[in-house]
Amino acid sequence: MRIDVLTLFPEMVDAVLQSSILGKAREKGIVEYHLTNFRDFSGNKHGQVDDTPYGGGGGMVLKPEPIFSAVEHIVDGTGSRSPRIILMTPQGDPYNQSKAERLAEEEHLIFICGHYEGYDERIREHLVTDEISIGDYVLTGGELPALVVIDSVVRLLPGALGNEQSARTDSFQNGLLEHPHYTRPAEFRGWQVPDVLLSGHHENIETWRLKESLRRTYLRRPDLLKEMELTEPMQKLLEEVKKEEKQN
Ligand code: ADE
Repeated sequence: MRIDVLTLFPEMVDAVLQSSILGKAREKGIVEYHLTNFRDFSGNKHGQVDDTPYGGGGGMVLKPEPIFSAVEHIVDGTGSRSPRIILMTPQGDPYNQSKAERLAEEEHLIFICGHYEGYDERIREHLVTDEISIGDYVLTGGELPALVVIDSVVRLLPGALGNEQSARTDSFQNGLLEHPHYTRPAEFRGWQVPDVLLSGHHENIETWRLKESLRRTYLRRPDLLKEMELTEPMQKLLEEVKKEEKQN
């Protein structure tokens, strides 16, 4: 996968892409990162990339030329046929795990990160393929949101995580929150690890994990359960959970 990030603060993005799993994925040849400072494409000698809004009012608006030119330069240079061109904005589609999975299938992602009041509308209408928001709050720029998306996508690429299992069983990967985890010691300050986990009985352990995954989702994110089609065994476990929770 090739990932391009258009930003006025490449050093901020680079620091994260060099680190930990994102950095290792690059070293392993699973992903390439390319950072472009779109000020280099301003087309004017002052390097101006923003301007005041037509119609007046406060704030500055990102001009279309630098963004279009930078994206076109990348697309022409790579010969990518259908890159996803992603605008980071609080007005975008809410991001989630299934969107991460879809993006992980792509060959080329181009992220556009702004730091101003807004983007000239022609960028939205005529250049980008996706607009993504990472949540209903406003950040000072698109860099952190782009890194959130990149992190969630790169960890899904085959070979990026040491342990292949963990990407698949993580929270959300099956639509549910993950079950609780325990490690040694079996007793800590009087608090015991559930017996079933020490039993060595794999089937019982799997059933316990599924049930606790359902419990956690039921208690913390009932909205996720509403969107899911549960198998019959899962429905039974969920009924048990509901009964138990009523008693508590
Ligand atoms: N830029 C500023 N805030 C943002 C958000 N919540 N999501 C995506 N991009 C943003």
